[in-house]
Amino acid sequence: MNKKQCVDEAIHAYYCQSGAVSERLIEAILYSVDAGGKRFRPLILLDLLEDLGIKLDSGHYDVAAALEMIHTASLIHDDLPAMDNDDYRRGRLTNHKQFDEATAILAGDSLFLDPFGLISGANLADRVKVNLIQSLSQASGSFGMVAGQMLDMAAEHSHPSIEELATIHRHKTGCLLAYPFFAAGILADVSQKELVLLKQIGELVGLSFQVRDDILDVTADFATLGKTPNKDIVAQKVTYPSLLGLDNSHHILEDTLNRAFALVEELEVRQSRKFIKLRALLERLRLDD
Ligand code: IPE
Ligand code: IPE
Ligand code: MG
Ligand code: MG
Ligand code: MG
Repeated sequence: MNKKQCVDEAIHAYYCQSGAVSERLIEAILYSVDAGGKRFRPLILLDLLEDLGIKLDSGHYDVAAALEMIHTASLIHDDLPAMDNDDYRRGRLTNHKQFDEATAILAGDSLFLDPFGLISGANLADRVKVNLIQSLSQASGSFGMVAGQMLDMAAEHSHPSIEELATIHRHKTGCLLAYPFFAAGILADVSQKELVLLKQIGELVGLSFQVRDDILDVTADFATLGKTPNKDIVAQKVTYPSLLGLDNSHHILEDTLNRAFALVEELEVRQSRKFIKLRALLERLRLDD
């Protein structure tokens, strides 16, 4: 099994344990989980752990699965009529279109809450688990992704500055992308200095990721995106392309990624090893302009 399959297997194992109370709830959850996301966040965690010389086992896959579950929940809720009102996600109908709104809300609720149980039961030291659970809560909730989504919604009818837009992006997307960098550092027991470096790389990767998503909304087609293109324009979202234009957005993406790579290099020197897998994963975020 490859890493992606191991993550999927860990999510399925959680939902296929005996004693399901509502088959329809599990069906709706797995509908979105199995829709074929890129699994970028779990892969950062797992590739980075391997680059740090750690041999992967079930505890690591459980943390990677927990992160993907929270991300999937954020997408289900992001697509709801009260939020971005999208009909397609990961190449299929959105959860509320395939099922109904109440089911989609509840499937999201489950995917937000279950990860904390999954990590709690993982085969890892208790001290490590508490740290991972606390930081996942921080990255996801009122101080992370959810707060960013709140700012994103409020910004629909206002004119945020580029600094305010960066704050939205840092929270709604950056926090969950920075998490695997921090979590890998905790799992590999790196020094405080290296943990700070990992967090900084994560924040830069997080910003790049949302700038890239904003660019692709304008430039890519349905087959590539698995979601409706030009949605940000129709919904009058403030994005990097809408504020600064496409060319500048490409430059910012490139510059932000280069800054992340410079910090990866710093980490490589400190660790006396090359982060080959992480580098390959991050290279995939570059876009030709
Ligand atoms: C989409 O995330 C939403 C953003 C945070 C920009 P991904 O591009 O990682 O979506 P999937 O998981 O591959 O579907
Ligand atoms: C998504 O931002 C952020 C979260 C889901 C937390 P977008 O609204 O831009 O994501 P897409 O474009 O719908 O995937
Ligand atoms: Mg949104
Ligand atoms: Mg959206
Ligand atoms: Mg988008």
